Amino acid sequence: MSAVLKVLPEHEAAASVVVQPRAARVVNGGHGAEEAAAPAGPTEAMLGMLLDETPQGILVINAQGVVAYANLAMSVLFPMRSVRQNARLAEQAGMEDIAALVAGARGGQKRVMAEVRVAFKSGKSTLEERVYQAVAAPMPEVSGGVWVMVEDVTGHALTEQIRKDFVTNASHELRTPLSLIHGYIETLKSGMIKGGASLNRCLEVMEKHSKRMMRIIEDMLTISRLEGGDAQLRTEKFNVRGCVEDVLEHLTPLIEARQPVITLKFPEQGGILDADRFYWDQIFTNLIENSLKENPRTGLRIDISGQWTEDECVLMVADDGVGIPAEDVPFVFKRFFRCAKHHSQEIKGTGLGLSIVKRAVEAHGGTIELRSEPGVQTAFIMRVPV
Ligand SMILES: Nc1ncnc2c1ncn2[C@@H]1O[C@H](COP(=O)(O)OP(=O)(O)O)[C@@H](O)[C@H]1O
Ligand SMILES: [Mg+2]
Repeated sequence: MSAVLKVLPEHEAAASVVVQPRAARVVNGGHGAEEAAAPAGPTEAMLGMLLDETPQGILVINAQGVVAYANLAMSVLFPMRSVRQNARLAEQAGMEDIAALVAGARGGQKRVMAEVRVAFKSGKSTLEERVYQAVAAPMPEVSGGVWVMVEDVTGHALTEQIRKDFVTNASHELRTPLSLIHGYIETLKSGMIKGGASLNRCLEVMEKHSKRMMRIIEDMLTISRLEGGDAQLRTEKFNVRGCVEDVLEHLTPLIEARQPVITLKFPEQGGILDADRFYWDQIFTNLIENSLKENPRTGLRIDISGQWTEDECVLMVADDGVGIPAEDVPFVFKRFFRCAKHHSQEIKGTGLGLSIVKRAVEAHGGTIELRSEPGVQTAFIMRVPV
């Protein structure tokens, strides 16, 4: 920052820096004679241009609390209340948090930091909140002067929130089966169960819940592998209809219980995908299992199809069951999300299936889309480049 300060002597600071159009500065780079005459160090114009290139907003406030300098990023970060130069910061609407930070840095003569939240209008009536980290510090070169740097950390804040939610949800999901198992262990220890049928029942419940925990943990590990980008796909050419048929075979007990009408529509040879078959088994298992388990009635129609064009393959798993209400559609791919109420609780899933499906499809460079008209058609459509 000290290099910046040289271009902002105290007595000039209030009026010195004006944001010039970029083109004017490019000319300033100079050629020929001009170049030879240029000073060795960075010029004011060069520094101004560089400061306008940084994504962080930079402000210099002089001893009188007047904005002596604001770079271009400031007007991107605060578009609705663009910071006016040569005016007092404290009197500018929407800059109260930054002004308070500046006062803190000046008063305490130390570097201070704060989180600033700014509401943006996105669309007609919706407000989008962005999270900034602002740092302010005194400038010893300019008595009473303070510089401010503002960085958009919305992305980090969002990731942090997702991480916190994940830990909370995962703990919650694991606690239920674990406390049930714990309860049964206590009962067994108390000696109240002497053997026979009650002992068997006890062990069965413990087994069921430990299996559930294992499934949750396996699903979480799969998601973390896919999210970590180290999902190292082991691609091989395989027949997609063959893959679907294998999945249907694995789901035989559920299919026999539900008696659905399943239709496969694939090219004559079955259609080839050069992808990681492990994940495609998981994708089809999750989607077909969801259709079956959310619709306990018999006679459900499930259509599974694949269509190939020159550059993509469109795969669809659709059913005519209860579907997903419009208000839930935006959330179904989120971790641990399960639609409420009217759906069957007979087979309780982990709520991780569709997030695995989405991440697995994306790991293959593809996209997934859900269209649901409850009772008519609920379709998961995947497009994968070939
Ligand atoms: N074909 C479908 N029909 C109706 N609801 C569905 C269907 N597929 C998914 N859902 C809903 O989306 C939720 C999330 O699915 P998923 O991530 O696979 O979790 P789960 O472990 O519950 O199967 C399910 O709990 C269910 O409420
Ligand atoms: Mg599922």
